[in-house]
Amino acid sequence: MRKKIVAGNWKMNKTMEEALILTSEVVHMVKDEVASDVIVVLGVPSIYLTTVQKYVEPVANMGVAAQNCHQKASGAYTGEISAPMLQSIGVDYVYIGHSERRQYFSETNEELAEKVNIALANGLAPIFCCGESLEQRQAGGFLEFVASQLTDSLFHLSEEDFRKVAIAYEPIWAIGTGLTASSEQAQEMHAYLRGHLASKYGQSVANDTSILYGGSCNEKNAQELFACPDVDGGLIGGASLKSREFTNIAKSF
Ligand code: PGA
Repeated sequence: MRKKIVAGNWKMNKTMEEALILTSEVVHMVKDEVASDVIVVLGVPSIYLTTVQKYVEPVANMGVAAQNCHQKASGAYTGEISAPMLQSIGVDYVYIGHSERRQYFSETNEELAEKVNIALANGLAPIFCCGESLEQRQAGGFLEFVASQLTDSLFHLSEEDFRKVAIAYEPIWAIGTGLTASSEQAQEMHAYLRGHLASKYGQSVANDTSILYGGSCNEKNAQELFACPDVDGGLIGGASLKSREFTNIAKSF
């Protein structure tokens, strides 16, 4: 059975003091209110990972995520953070291929394949992001385009490694815009991607892969989105910055 996951993405937000308040509020609420079969992940700026990890570690269904890692294990890459470093501080997950990384930092499918490899080699579970722009959606062929992102960055993996990956479908036109994909649009893409995974790894692996929806998911629309048969949770940006709203999303299954 695939896992239900609600993963926050704080992006480049919060001071240390604000991060501590948000983390402790979320940890308390998750412990008291969220079903134990829902995994709640906090994707925080890397300088807060160690601190947030201490709060989250005692809670069985919580984890921390880095928002990126470099594709090399070490070396002269000023300002970058490596997968072995993340492993050494006990990080559980890493987001790879977020559209903001693809857009502002020119990350290519080939580089993302390398990032996935190094994450897996260092015991990190990748949450791999994919999604189309508004122009691509309007032009058609967007289902195939998003599937090709998976082919190019993931389909070299062995079945054993692929089983450690979760997918986050995030239509770029819905990220941070307040425009959410309708539940029909989300279900259409998620079912298509699951079929694409099945064509490579077989139906059983595809059925076991968590496919999260991201893009202006909030406490009002989460229930309808998570009720779709192929939507297994969410990658949550703006709404993960508020403890009450984020917890309510994690309660929306
Ligand atoms: P959003 O961001 O929820 O603010 O749209 C989602 C994401 O970028 O992961």
